[in-house]
Amino acid sequence: MITLLSHLSYVAITTPDVEASVRFYEEQVGLTVVDRIGDRVYLRCWGDYYRYSLVIVPGEEPGLETAAWRTSSAEALEEAAKRVAAAGAEVEWFDGPAIGRAFSFVGPWGHRLTLHWDAEHYRETSGDAASIYPDRPSRRSTVAGAPRQLDHVTIAASDVDAFTQWYRDVLGYRIMARTVLDEAPISVFSVLTTNEKSHDLGVVLDGSTRAGRVNHFAFWVDTREELLIAADTLMENGVPIEYGPSIHGIGEQNFLYYREPSTLRIELNTGGYRNYVPDWEPRTWTPSLGSNNLYRNGAMPMSMTESFPSADGPSATEEGVPDDIKDALLNPYAVQGRG
Ligand SMILES: [Fe+2]
Repeated sequence: MITLLSHLSYVAITTPDVEASVRFYEEQVGLTVVDRIGDRVYLRCWGDYYRYSLVIVPGEEPGLETAAWRTSSAEALEEAAKRVAAAGAEVEWFDGPAIGRAFSFVGPWGHRLTLHWDAEHYRETSGDAASIYPDRPSRRSTVAGAPRQLDHVTIAASDVDAFTQWYRDVLGYRIMARTVLDEAPISVFSVLTTNEKSHDLGVVLDGSTRAGRVNHFAFWVDTREELLIAADTLMENGVPIEYGPSIHGIGEQNFLYYREPSTLRIELNTGGYRNYVPDWEPRTWTPSLGSNNLYRNGAMPMSMTESFPSADGPSATEEGVPDDIKDALLNPYAVQGRG
Protein backbone atom coordinates (compact mmCIF):
# COMPACT_ATOMS: atom_id res chain seq x y z
CA MET A 1 0.00 0.00 0.00
CA ILE A 2 1.26 3.53 -0.71
CA THR A 3 1.71 5.67 2.39
CA LEU A 4 -1.64 7.38 2.80
CA LEU A 5 -1.34 9.37 6.01
CA SER A 6 1.42 11.62 7.34
CA HIS A 7 0.48 12.69 10.85
CA LEU A 8 -2.24 13.77 13.28
CA SER A 9 -3.14 17.37 12.42
CA TYR A 10 -5.90 18.38 14.83
CA VAL A 11 -8.45 17.13 17.32
CA ALA A 12 -11.91 18.63 17.83
CA ILE A 13 -13.33 18.10 21.31
CA THR A 14 -16.74 18.81 22.79
CA THR A 15 -17.19 20.53 26.13
CA PRO A 16 -20.24 21.82 28.00
CA ASP A 17 -18.51 25.12 28.87
CA VAL A 18 -16.51 26.32 25.86
CA GLU A 19 -15.19 29.48 27.49
CA ALA A 20 -14.00 27.66 30.63
CA SER A 21 -12.11 25.18 28.44
CA VAL A 22 -10.67 27.92 26.20
CA ARG A 23 -9.43 29.84 29.27
CA PHE A 24 -7.79 26.69 30.61
CA TYR A 25 -5.97 25.96 27.35
CA GLU A 26 -4.77 29.55 27.19
CA GLU A 27 -3.71 29.96 30.81
CA GLN A 28 -2.71 26.48 32.00
CA VAL A 29 -1.62 24.73 28.80
CA GLY A 30 -0.24 27.72 26.87
CA LEU A 31 -2.24 27.55 23.63
CA THR A 32 -3.41 30.57 21.64
CA VAL A 33 -6.82 31.24 20.10
CA VAL A 34 -6.43 31.86 16.34
CA ASP A 35 -10.05 31.85 15.15
CA ARG A 36 -13.63 31.86 16.38
CA ILE A 37 -16.02 30.65 13.70
CA GLY A 38 -19.65 30.38 14.80
CA ASP A 39 -19.59 28.64 18.17
CA ARG A 40 -16.28 26.85 17.48
CA VAL A 41 -12.96 28.06 18.84
CA TYR A 42 -9.67 27.20 17.08
CA LEU A 43 -6.43 27.07 19.06
CA ARG A 44 -2.79 26.34 18.33
CA CYS A 45 0.42 25.48 20.13
CA TRP A 46 3.29 27.87 19.46
CA GLY A 47 5.08 25.30 17.27
CA ASP A 48 2.16 23.77 15.36
CA TYR A 49 2.94 23.89 11.64
CA TYR A 50 -0.67 24.48 10.61
CA ARG A 51 -3.17 27.09 11.66
CA TYR A 52 -4.77 25.12 14.49
CA SER A 53 -4.42 21.79 16.28
CA LEU A 54 -7.35 21.97 18.71
CA VAL A 55 -10.97 22.88 18.03
CA ILE A 56 -13.28 23.39 20.99
CA VAL A 57 -16.91 22.71 20.17
CA PRO A 58 -19.93 23.14 22.46
CA GLY A 59 -21.53 19.85 23.48
CA GLU A 60 -23.55 18.34 26.31
CA GLU A 61 -20.70 16.07 27.38
CA PRO A 62 -16.91 16.01 27.10
CA GLY A 63 -15.90 13.92 24.11
CA LEU A 64 -14.14 13.70 20.76
CA GLU A 65 -15.93 15.20 17.77
CA THR A 66 -13.19 14.17 15.36
CA ALA A 67 -9.48 13.47 15.08
CA ALA A 68 -7.88 14.61 11.81
CA TRP A 69 -4.89 13.26 9.91
CA ARG A 70 -3.18 14.96 7.04
CA THR A 71 -2.66 12.67 4.07
CA SER A 72 0.70 12.34 2.33
CA SER A 73 -0.55 13.90 -0.94
CA ALA A 74 -3.66 14.99 -2.81
CA GLU A 75 -3.73 11.58 -4.53
CA ALA A 76 -3.49 9.84 -1.17
CA LEU A 77 -6.60 11.71 0.00
CA GLU A 78 -8.57 10.32 -2.96
CA GLU A 79 -7.16 6.83 -2.44
CA ALA A 80 -7.99 6.96 1.29
CA ALA A 81 -11.58 7.92 0.48
CA LYS A 82 -11.87 4.96 -1.89
CA ARG A 83 -10.46 2.56 0.70
CA VAL A 84 -12.71 3.83 3.50
CA ALA A 85 -15.78 3.52 1.25
CA ALA A 86 -14.74 0.00 0.15
CA ALA A 87 -14.46 -0.95 3.84
CA GLY A 88 -18.09 0.02 4.29
CA ALA A 89 -17.86 3.45 5.97
CA GLU A 90 -19.72 6.45 4.59
CA VAL A 91 -17.37 9.09 3.17
CA GLU A 92 -18.63 12.63 3.88
CA TRP A 93 -16.81 15.37 1.93
CA PHE A 94 -16.73 18.94 3.24
CA ASP A 95 -14.70 22.15 3.07
CA GLY A 96 -12.99 22.93 6.38
CA PRO A 97 -11.39 26.15 7.61
CA ALA A 98 -7.70 26.29 6.65
CA ILE A 99 -7.78 22.66 5.43
CA GLY A 100 -9.90 22.96 2.26
CA ARG A 101 -11.46 19.85 0.78
CA ALA A 102 -11.57 17.09 3.38
CA PHE A 103 -13.67 14.10 4.26
CA SER A 104 -14.74 12.49 7.48
CA PHE A 105 -16.10 9.05 8.28
CA VAL A 106 -17.21 7.12 11.33
CA GLY A 107 -15.10 3.99 11.84
CA PRO A 108 -16.49 0.65 13.06
CA TRP A 109 -16.09 1.57 16.75
CA GLY A 110 -17.87 4.89 16.41
CA HIS A 111 -14.98 7.35 16.12
CA ARG A 112 -15.17 10.09 13.52
CA LEU A 113 -11.87 10.64 11.69
CA THR A 114 -11.20 13.46 9.26
CA LEU A 115 -8.65 13.29 6.45
CA HIS A 116 -7.34 16.24 4.47
CA TRP A 117 -4.39 17.11 2.25
CA ASP A 118 -4.59 20.89 1.95
CA ALA A 119 -3.40 22.77 5.02
CA GLU A 120 -2.58 26.40 5.63
CA HIS A 121 1.06 26.57 6.73
CA TYR A 122 1.25 28.95 9.65
CA ARG A 123 3.85 31.63 10.19
CA GLU A 124 3.68 34.85 12.16
CA THR A 125 5.91 37.35 10.36
CA SER A 126 5.39 40.45 12.48
CA GLY A 127 4.06 41.53 15.83
CA ASP A 128 4.44 40.07 19.32
CA ALA A 129 3.82 36.47 18.24
CA ALA A 130 6.52 36.44 15.54
CA SER A 131 9.60 34.30 16.23
CA ILE A 132 13.14 35.49 15.54
CA TYR A 133 13.89 31.96 14.17
CA PRO A 134 12.94 31.00 10.60
CA ASP A 135 11.80 27.45 11.46
CA ARG A 136 9.31 28.51 14.11
CA PRO A 137 5.70 29.22 13.08
CA SER A 138 5.44 31.60 16.05
CA ARG A 139 7.53 32.52 19.07
CA ARG A 140 7.88 30.21 22.04
CA SER A 141 5.04 30.56 24.54
CA THR A 142 5.68 32.43 27.74
CA VAL A 143 3.50 29.94 29.67
CA ALA A 144 5.85 27.59 31.55
CA GLY A 145 5.98 24.14 29.98
CA ALA A 146 3.73 25.16 27.08
CA PRO A 147 3.72 22.35 24.50
CA ARG A 148 5.31 22.83 21.09
CA GLN A 149 2.67 20.86 19.19
CA LEU A 150 -0.11 18.30 19.17
CA ASP A 151 1.19 14.74 19.60
CA HIS A 152 -1.43 11.97 19.67
CA VAL A 153 -4.96 10.95 20.52
CA THR A 154 -5.99 7.80 22.42
CA ILE A 155 -9.51 6.50 21.92
CA ALA A 156 -11.45 3.70 23.60
CA ALA A 157 -12.84 0.69 21.69
CA SER A 158 -14.48 -2.56 22.72
CA ASP A 159 -12.03 -4.75 20.71
CA VAL A 160 -8.50 -3.38 20.76
CA ASP A 161 -6.94 -5.85 18.29
CA ALA A 162 -9.81 -5.68 15.80
CA PHE A 163 -9.65 -1.88 15.96
CA THR A 164 -5.93 -1.76 15.20
CA GLN A 165 -6.25 -4.30 12.37
CA TRP A 166 -9.05 -2.33 10.71
CA TYR A 167 -7.07 0.90 10.76
CA ARG A 168 -3.91 -0.90 9.57
CA ASP A 169 -5.70 -2.66 6.72
CA VAL A 170 -7.81 0.29 5.54
CA LEU A 171 -5.51 3.28 6.05
CA GLY A 172 -2.03 1.84 6.58
CA TYR A 173 -1.39 2.70 10.21
CA ARG A 174 1.55 0.66 11.58
CA ILE A 175 0.70 -1.29 14.74
CA MET A 176 3.70 -0.81 17.05
CA ALA A 177 2.81 -2.59 20.30
CA ARG A 178 0.01 -3.84 22.47
CA THR A 179 -0.57 -4.71 26.10
CA VAL A 180 -2.15 -8.04 26.96
CA LEU A 181 -3.19 -8.77 30.54
CA ASP A 182 -0.86 -10.96 32.59
CA GLU A 183 -3.84 -13.01 33.77
CA ALA A 184 -5.76 -13.54 30.54
CA PRO A 185 -5.26 -13.15 26.76
CA ILE A 186 -7.16 -9.86 26.63
CA SER A 187 -5.70 -6.88 24.75
CA VAL A 188 -6.25 -3.76 26.82
CA PHE A 189 -4.11 -1.23 24.97
CA SER A 190 -2.37 -0.76 21.64
CA VAL A 191 -0.53 1.95 19.74
CA LEU A 192 -0.54 2.78 16.02
CA THR A 193 1.46 5.29 14.05
CA THR A 194 1.55 6.98 10.65
CA ASN A 195 5.17 8.11 11.03
CA GLU A 196 8.34 7.52 13.07
CA LYS A 197 6.77 8.21 16.47
CA SER A 198 5.65 5.26 18.59
CA HIS A 199 2.07 6.42 18.13
CA ASP A 200 -0.17 9.16 16.94
CA LEU A 201 -3.19 6.96 17.63
CA GLY A 202 -3.68 4.87 20.77
CA VAL A 203 -6.56 2.63 21.76
CA VAL A 204 -7.62 1.46 25.24
CA LEU A 205 -10.11 -1.30 25.92
CA ASP A 206 -13.65 0.00 26.41
CA GLY A 207 -15.87 -2.39 28.36
CA SER A 208 -18.90 -0.14 27.92
CA THR A 209 -21.48 -0.34 25.18
CA ARG A 210 -21.02 3.32 24.25
CA ALA A 211 -19.23 3.82 20.93
CA GLY A 212 -16.82 6.53 19.87
CA ARG A 213 -15.30 7.37 23.22
CA VAL A 214 -11.91 9.01 23.84
CA ASN A 215 -9.50 8.45 26.74
CA HIS A 216 -7.14 11.42 26.24
CA PHE A 217 -5.21 13.47 23.77
CA ALA A 218 -1.62 14.60 24.09
CA PHE A 219 0.66 17.53 23.39
CA TRP A 220 4.45 17.43 22.94
CA VAL A 221 7.05 19.38 24.90
CA ASP A 222 10.69 19.41 23.76
CA THR A 223 12.39 18.23 26.92
CA ARG A 224 11.84 16.32 30.13
CA GLU A 225 12.80 19.49 32.02
CA GLU A 226 9.88 21.35 30.44
CA LEU A 227 7.55 18.48 31.36
CA LEU A 228 8.70 18.71 34.98
CA ILE A 229 8.34 22.50 34.97
CA ALA A 230 4.83 22.12 33.56
CA ALA A 231 4.02 19.67 36.39
CA ASP A 232 5.42 22.05 38.98
CA THR A 233 3.54 25.04 37.53
CA LEU A 234 0.25 23.12 37.30
CA MET A 235 0.56 22.15 40.97
CA GLU A 236 1.29 25.76 41.98
CA ASN A 237 -1.74 26.86 39.94
CA GLY A 238 -4.03 24.40 41.72
CA VAL A 239 -4.44 22.01 38.78
CA PRO A 240 -4.25 18.41 40.09
CA ILE A 241 -1.98 15.98 38.24
CA GLU A 242 -3.82 12.74 37.64
CA TYR A 243 -0.81 10.51 36.90
CA GLY A 244 2.93 11.07 36.43
CA PRO A 245 5.36 12.50 35.70
CA SER A 246 6.83 9.11 34.79
CA ILE A 247 7.84 7.11 31.68
CA HIS A 248 5.70 4.73 29.65
CA GLY A 249 7.31 1.39 28.77
CA ILE A 250 5.53 1.34 25.41
CA GLY A 251 6.92 4.21 23.35
CA GLU A 252 9.29 5.21 26.17
CA GLN A 253 7.77 8.66 26.43
CA ASN A 254 7.85 10.75 29.57
CA PHE A 255 4.24 11.46 30.48
CA LEU A 256 2.02 13.59 32.66
CA TYR A 257 -1.80 13.54 32.77
CA TYR A 258 -4.21 16.19 34.00
CA ARG A 259 -7.77 17.27 33.30
CA GLU A 260 -9.32 20.30 31.66
CA PRO A 261 -12.54 21.87 33.04
CA SER A 262 -14.86 19.53 31.09
CA THR A 263 -13.01 16.63 32.88
CA LEU A 264 -11.46 15.55 29.57
CA ARG A 265 -7.93 14.20 30.08
CA ILE A 266 -4.87 15.95 28.61
CA GLU A 267 -1.42 14.35 28.43
CA LEU A 268 1.96 16.00 28.02
CA ASN A 269 4.67 13.89 26.36
CA THR A 270 8.32 14.13 25.55
CA GLY A 271 11.14 11.78 24.60
CA GLY A 272 10.56 8.28 23.31
CA TYR A 273 12.01 6.29 20.47
CA ARG A 274 11.89 6.90 16.75
CA ASN A 275 10.99 3.87 14.63
CA TYR A 276 11.20 3.95 10.83
CA VAL A 277 10.90 0.19 10.21
CA PRO A 278 8.24 -0.30 7.51
CA ASP A 279 7.60 -3.98 8.29
CA TRP A 280 7.77 -3.69 12.08
CA GLU A 281 6.21 -6.62 13.92
CA PRO A 282 4.00 -5.36 16.79
CA ARG A 283 5.50 -6.18 20.20
CA THR A 284 3.41 -7.66 22.98
CA TRP A 285 3.75 -6.33 26.52
CA THR A 286 1.99 -7.17 29.77
CA PRO A 287 1.28 -4.63 32.52
CA SER A 288 3.83 -6.35 34.79
CA LEU A 289 6.56 -5.81 32.16
CA GLY A 290 6.01 -2.09 32.60
CA SER A 291 3.94 -1.29 29.50
CA ASN A 292 2.43 1.74 31.19
CA ASN A 293 5.20 2.50 33.69
CA LEU A 294 8.79 1.73 32.71
CA TYR A 295 9.91 1.62 36.33
CA ARG A 296 7.32 -1.02 37.23
CA ASN A 297 6.48 0.70 40.47
CA GLY A 298 3.78 3.38 40.32
CA ALA A 299 0.29 1.88 40.16
CA MET A 300 -2.04 3.69 37.79
CA PRO A 301 -4.88 5.57 39.55
CA MET A 302 -8.38 4.15 39.06
CA SER A 303 -9.50 7.41 37.46
CA MET A 304 -7.27 6.73 34.43
CA THR A 305 -9.72 4.07 33.19
CA GLU A 306 -12.36 6.78 32.70
CA SER A 307 -13.07 7.61 29.06
CA PHE A 308 -15.35 10.27 27.57
CA PRO A 309 -18.25 10.78 27.30
CA SER A 310 -19.08 8.77 30.39
CA ALA A 311 -20.22 5.22 29.63
CA ASP A 312 -23.89 5.60 30.51
CA GLY A 313 -24.71 9.21 29.76
CA PRO A 314 -24.25 12.54 31.52
CA SER A 315 -25.25 11.39 35.02
CA ALA A 316 -23.29 8.14 35.12
CA THR A 317 -20.43 7.78 37.56
CA GLU A 318 -19.51 4.13 36.96
CA GLU A 319 -17.37 3.12 34.03
CA GLY A 320 -18.07 0.03 31.98
CA VAL A 321 -14.67 -1.64 32.25
CA PRO A 322 -15.19 -5.02 33.98
CA ASP A 323 -13.81 -5.15 37.52
CA ASP A 324 -11.32 -7.96 36.92
CA ILE A 325 -9.78 -6.10 33.98
CA LYS A 326 -9.71 -2.89 35.99
CA ASP A 327 -7.97 -4.68 38.88
CA ALA A 328 -5.38 -6.20 36.58
CA LEU A 329 -4.64 -2.80 35.02
CA LEU A 330 -4.45 -0.96 38.30
CA ASN A 331 -2.30 -3.48 40.17
CA PRO A 332 0.02 -4.94 37.52
CA TYR A 333 2.89 -5.32 39.96
CA ALA A 334 1.00 -7.92 41.99
CA VAL A 335 2.19 -10.23 39.22
CA GLN A 336 5.93 -10.38 39.72
CA GLY A 337 8.74 -12.65 38.69
CA ARG A 338 8.32 -11.83 34.99
CA GLY A 339 10.43 -9.92 32.54
FE1 LIG B 1 -1.07 8.95 25.56
